Amino acid sequence: MWPDQRLCDLFRVEHPIIQAPMMGSCTPELAGAVSNAGGLGSLGCGEKPATTIRAEAAAIRARTNRSFNLNFFIIQQEKTDPRVLEAARKRLQPWYDDLGLGDPPSELPPPGRGFDEERLEVVLSVRPRVVSFHFGHPEASHVEAMKAAGIVLVSSATSVAEARVLEAAGMDAVIAQGWEAGGHRGSHKPTAPGDGVGTMALVPQIVDAVSVPVIAAGGIGDGRGIAAAMALGASGVQMGTAFLSCPEAATEPARRERLRQATDRDTMVTDAFSGRSARAMRSRYAEEMERAREALPPFPQMYALSGPIRNAAGDSEASFFLYGQAAALSKEMAAGDLVARLVKEAREVMGYLSRR
Ligand SMILES: Cc1cc2nc3c(=O)[nH]c(=O)nc-3n(C[C@H](O)[C@H](O)[C@H](O)COP(=O)(O)O)c2cc1C
Repeated sequence: MWPDQRLCDLFRVEHPIIQAPMMGSCTPELAGAVSNAGGLGSLGCGEKPATTIRAEAAAIRARTNRSFNLNFFIIQQEKTDPRVLEAARKRLQPWYDDLGLGDPPSELPPPGRGFDEERLEVVLSVRPRVVSFHFGHPEASHVEAMKAAGIVLVSSATSVAEARVLEAAGMDAVIAQGWEAGGHRGSHKPTAPGDGVGTMALVPQIVDAVSVPVIAAGGIGDGRGIAAAMALGASGVQMGTAFLSCPEAATEPARRERLRQATDRDTMVTDAFSGRSARAMRSRYAEEMERAREALPPFPQMYALSGPIRNAAGDSEASFFLYGQAAALSKEMAAGDLVARLVKEAREVMGYLSRR
C-alpha cells in the first residue's frame, strides 16, 4: 500500500499523511475531516487554556472516531535580559511612533508554560492516539506517563543531532522539518533566521541517523512531494501550508486571497515577531528588523513588543502570516478531498517511477 507501513501502524491510520498542527489556523473541523479521510488530523494546543483543549478535543471526537494528534510547545523558561529588552524597545520606538502607539511595553509577560503538569493531565484524560511537540521534548517522567497510557509521541528535529536527541528521549517517530517549512522552526534552541537545512538534505540524513520512523515536513505541497519524501526514506509526511486553503481551516479571507496569489519567493524566516525563527510572509517590518540584526527578547515574550505593531500596521506592513515556500501549490478544496487527491497523486508518481 505504502512503501513503509510503520507510521500507519503506529498511528493506526490508513495514509501516512499528517495535517500539521497549526496554532491559530487549525480547527476541530479540519482535524476531524483529515482523520476521517484516513490521514492524521492535528490540533495545535500551544498556549491554549486546558478547558479549550478539552472542548476542542471533544469536538474532534464528535466528528471522528479515528486517531488524531494534540500538539504542544516545549518552552524554555528564559527571562529577558533587561539590556536586550531596552535595546529592542529603542529599536521598535520608530514603529510605535509612526503608528501612534505610544511607547513599547517596558515589562514583558512571563514566559509561556510549555508542557506542564496541567497539560499532562489534559493529555492523559483526553488520550489522543498521538501527541506531538515543537521545540524539543517533554521531561522524562512526562514521556513515561504518556507512553504508559498508550499514547504515541512525536517531535520535530531541524538537524541530525536534534533527531538523535528525540530518539534517545523516547519519541516514537521524528519529524524532519526542513528549511522550506511554514511556521516556527522546531529547533530545540533558538537559531538565527538564516540558519537551516533544506528538506531534501535533512530527511535522508535523519533517516540514516535514527531507527524510529521519520516524517518529512517542509515544502511538501502535493503528491509529487510525498513521493519524493518516501524516496528519501521518510515513512510519512507532515503538511501545513497545503491545508491552510481548506474551507475547514481558520484562515482569514484576506489571507486566503494572499495564498491564491502566492509565489515561491513570498516568505522569509524571521524572529522579529515571536522571538524565535519562523517562516512567514515577507513584510517591511521583518525585512527592516533582519537588515540590522540585534538580540531580541526570547519566545514567546517578543510577541508583547511586536503585537501592537502587527495589529496597527496590518498585513501589508507587518504581517506574521505563517506559510511555507510551496504555498503556490495549494489547492482550495475540502480537507477530505485534499487527502484523497494527495494519496492519488503520490501513488501515480510512485507507480510511474517504478515502471521506468
Ligand atoms: C500557519 C502555521 C502554523 C504552525 N503552527 C505550528 C504549531 O503550532 N505546532 C507545530 O508543531 N508546528 C507548527 N507549524 C509547523 C508545521 O508543523 C510544519 O512543520 C510545517 O507546516 C511544514 O511545512 P509546510 O508548511 O511547507 O507544509 C505551523 C505551520 C504553519 C504554516
